Amino acid sequence: MFTVDAIEKLAYLVASVLFILGLKLMAHPRTAVRGNLFGALGMALAMAVILLRIDSYALVVIGLVIGAAVGAVLAVKIQMTAMPQLVALFNGFGGLASVFVAGGALLQSKDPAVDELLATGLSGLIGAVTFSGSLVAFGKLQELAIFKRPFKLPAQQAINGLLALISLALIVWIVQHHYWSYVPLVVVALALGVSLTNPIGGADMPVVIALLNSYSGLAAAATGFVIDNNVLIISGSLVGASGIILTNLMCKAMNRSLFNVLFGVMGAESAAGDVDEIYATVRSTTPEDVAMILEGAHRVVFVPGYGMAVAQAQHAVRNLAKVLEERGIEVQYAIHPVAGRMPGHMNVLLAEADVPYEQLVEMDDINPTLDTADVAIVVGANDVVNPVARTDPDSPIYGMPIIDVDKARTVIVIKRSLSPGFAKIPNPLFAADNTLMLFSDAQKALIEISSALKEA
Ligand code: TAP
Repeated sequence: MFTVDAIEKLAYLVASVLFILGLKLMAHPRTAVRGNLFGALGMALAMAVILLRIDSYALVVIGLVIGAAVGAVLAVKIQMTAMPQLVALFNGFGGLASVFVAGGALLQSKDPAVDELLATGLSGLIGAVTFSGSLVAFGKLQELAIFKRPFKLPAQQAINGLLALISLALIVWIVQHHYWSYVPLVVVALALGVSLTNPIGGADMPVVIALLNSYSGLAAAATGFVIDNNVLIISGSLVGASGIILTNLMCKAMNRSLFNVLFGVMGAESAAGDVDEIYATVRSTTPEDVAMILEGAHRVVFVPGYGMAVAQAQHAVRNLAKVLEERGIEVQYAIHPVAGRMPGHMNVLLAEADVPYEQLVEMDDINPTLDTADVAIVVGANDVVNPVARTDPDSPIYGMPIIDVDKARTVIVIKRSLSPGFAKIPNPLFAADNTLMLFSDAQKALIEISSALKEA
């Protein structure tokens, strides 16, 4: 006979396998939707099993209704460009849930063991840091007035160190059965989350969010130990590990260390360089002229960046690509790992516009072929195509791998002005001999080029 315990263990095992498979499938755009489904299925299974153990369903139903309503509204309303701050909120609430679950378990348990108390303390600490840190990250990305400028308190690191030491002392106190210490622990950890995140520039928030995502996983895993729930331990560990891997990948793609992101301020000041001199030879063009250049091309490479997301130009890019393909022109898309403002930003947008996956080419694969591209069309990208990353050792982005568009025969850059991108530095690509600037909103420009091509 199957006992409830055995069914529960088996279901948790299946849910954990579904989470792992889901993560694996999410590594490729072609299988990502299925991966997401696997993850959701695993979560539904885990939830269903937990419901078997519950005596009163009223509170659960109220929670489900409120949660589902908020989730549905957010899913429909949120702009693609606001995704990072939504993820920040999700991480934060994950952390807060760990704080409450671990605290609730502490209230209920009769004679908790030392390891359970240690896990409770860690849940409270990491969960609360994640919650307040994520709220600050949300505020910065949303550009709320109070978070507009990063500021450091005098002796910021000493304050952080002190708060961390007090937190650890309170955890030791909890382990010695002084359960009331849980409340001051959470309060101090909330202050620590703010104090750690606030000095970091808004521009670095996507990396911080990936890190906080990892923390939220660790908090959940610790809570899993508190309530003795294997699926929570496994899923929390998966989130913790994948978050830290992602953080590392983002730092690498920006050629920065995590230490520099967390304790330096980037993007707050303009880098040196006489902008007028750099841009002295900039030439602008029109959609009609671009259409004429494209008419003679055999191979065209689109290089999307953050501006494509802002302009919601992915469908216009795809439509222009179709017009080109109808003329027998080969089309590809060069994908930089940190183009945009979140991992996979460009892939998601282009997938939404039904761009075939095989046309999306990673930076390392497309770079050696760019000298055979007739035209590279840069759609709202700036830093990820800035050649100073290769040529100027004094540049803040020196060493960051870039897409070598300057090697294409002709480069068309579509953006609204000569204003800088995320790194706030001028881009000599705009003034290069083979570059033409099309100053316009990306969506409008692409639609006009398509119309001009169709009329030609
Ligand atoms: P950026 O360097 O930020 O440049 C984006 C450009 O888009 C701007 O120069 C802007 O110029 C243009 N733009 C904005 N709205 C536009 C519109 N409606 N139409 C046309 N153009 C528009 O973008 P990027 O090249 O994608 O580089 C990404 C940067 O973000 C990198 O520095 C990267 O390190 C950083 N970052 C990325 C991530 C991830 S995970 N993706 C995380 C952290 C940091 P105008 O205002 O002149 O139009």
